[in-house]
Amino acid sequence: MTKLWGGRFQKATDHLVDDFHSSISFDQRLYRYDIRGSMAHARMLAKQGIIAPEEAQAIIKGLEEILADIEAGRVEFSVAAEDIHMNIEQLLTERIGPVGKKLHTARSRNDQVALDVRMYLKDEIDAIIALLRQLQETLLDLAEKHLDTVMPGYTHLQRAQPITLAHHLMAYVQMFGRDLDRLQDCRRRTDVLPLGAGALAGTTFPIDPACVAEQLGFAAVAENSLDAVSDRDFAVEFTAAAALIMVHLSRFCEEIILWSSAEFAFVELDDAYSTGSSMMPQKKNPDVAELTRGKAGRVFGDLMTLLTMLKGLPLAYNKDMQEDKEALFDAVDTVKKCLRVFTPMVASLKVRPENMAGAARGGFTNATDLADYLVKKGVPFREAHEQVGKLVYYCLSRGKSLEELSLEEFRHFAPQVEEDVYRAIDIRQCVAARRVLGGPAPESVREAISRARERLGR
Ligand code: ARG
Repeated sequence: MTKLWGGRFQKATDHLVDDFHSSISFDQRLYRYDIRGSMAHARMLAKQGIIAPEEAQAIIKGLEEILADIEAGRVEFSVAAEDIHMNIEQLLTERIGPVGKKLHTARSRNDQVALDVRMYLKDEIDAIIALLRQLQETLLDLAEKHLDTVMPGYTHLQRAQPITLAHHLMAYVQMFGRDLDRLQDCRRRTDVLPLGAGALAGTTFPIDPACVAEQLGFAAVAENSLDAVSDRDFAVEFTAAAALIMVHLSRFCEEIILWSSAEFAFVELDDAYSTGSSMMPQKKNPDVAELTRGKAGRVFGDLMTLLTMLKGLPLAYNKDMQEDKEALFDAVDTVKKCLRVFTPMVASLKVRPENMAGAARGGFTNATDLADYLVKKGVPFREAHEQVGKLVYYCLSRGKSLEELSLEEFRHFAPQVEEDVYRAIDIRQCVAARRVLGGPAPESVREAISRARERLGR
């Protein structure tokens, strides 16, 4: 097969090289953007008098047919034609004749590929934002149902202080909310048209990039032709945001895995989101959560791939940059796949409030409240801390909880204790008393839910 760039060459490319530098196996997913970009380019060329209107029409009609054929699975791409850009251009010329050869006027594959990737990523960012919103809505609905579901909050995975499931879930709503912000922010910088930069130095033709930007829905046009074709920072930003989404999903998954163990028994996974064992008949495994936790590593790897690929490249385009696609695509696919299954898995979780409350009652999660109680009775905090520590040690030796102690037992270690101590260290009261902004008291969390809903509504 003759190459679109074959003029300067005396010899055919070695077939190993064809295979080595071809990207069609993975960049074919850009076909829709490549065709839309080419149509806009052709229209602009005609408007500027660079090609004739009938030529643009023939090109656009040809591209429309190619699009329909690709969509119907009637096109077989060629490895020798290297990438999606040259595959489509070659198909076009085969179909409409020599006028097809005019499409690439005032354009290079370097600005073309940058265009395609930016168009692709904008759409994918929108899709991921929609998935994140669904996840947040699911978490908000669940939180609303569990404003009063007391559970232990942990530090070092040791029971620390009582909170509620709603408060815990709302922590993730915050994280995913920032993830959403990051995507929106990165989308702004992705939304810049690189077409017109040519190979690196623009073009001598009187093009009108603003007209292309308008047709394709770009908010801005690149201000430097070298930069337009040689940076992929928008892809790095996206992948970094994707990596953080995976961090958040993975931490949540880790908790779901723990919580669904018999040792915790805080939740039970729906059968539809768990799997069995080929040998052990009793098993019900949290594979979806584990796999999501595992897939986080892929996306971190994708981020490292992009950063490393870019760091040593002299301006402007280098073929290394073709390696951006598989990493970017993998990050997009992985995040979407995980979010799609994670959200219904969480929505279908069966919560065991009695086990959560039981765990919050054991483990002295009200010890801080007892110390605070003593402080309110005039004991300096450090002293109160010491007294409560001794009380806990005493309880441990008797197999008791703090609320099971008699007034005499309390007073032996902390003379300031009075009858009202039992209310002060009641687990529900401990939660309800934390009425600060961002705290676990049902009132505070209800406010947090309505603020989050308001943000989502916008
Ligand atoms: N397939 C190439 C890529 O993904 C398109 C740009 C090729 N440009 C070039 N000068 N070889 O980067």
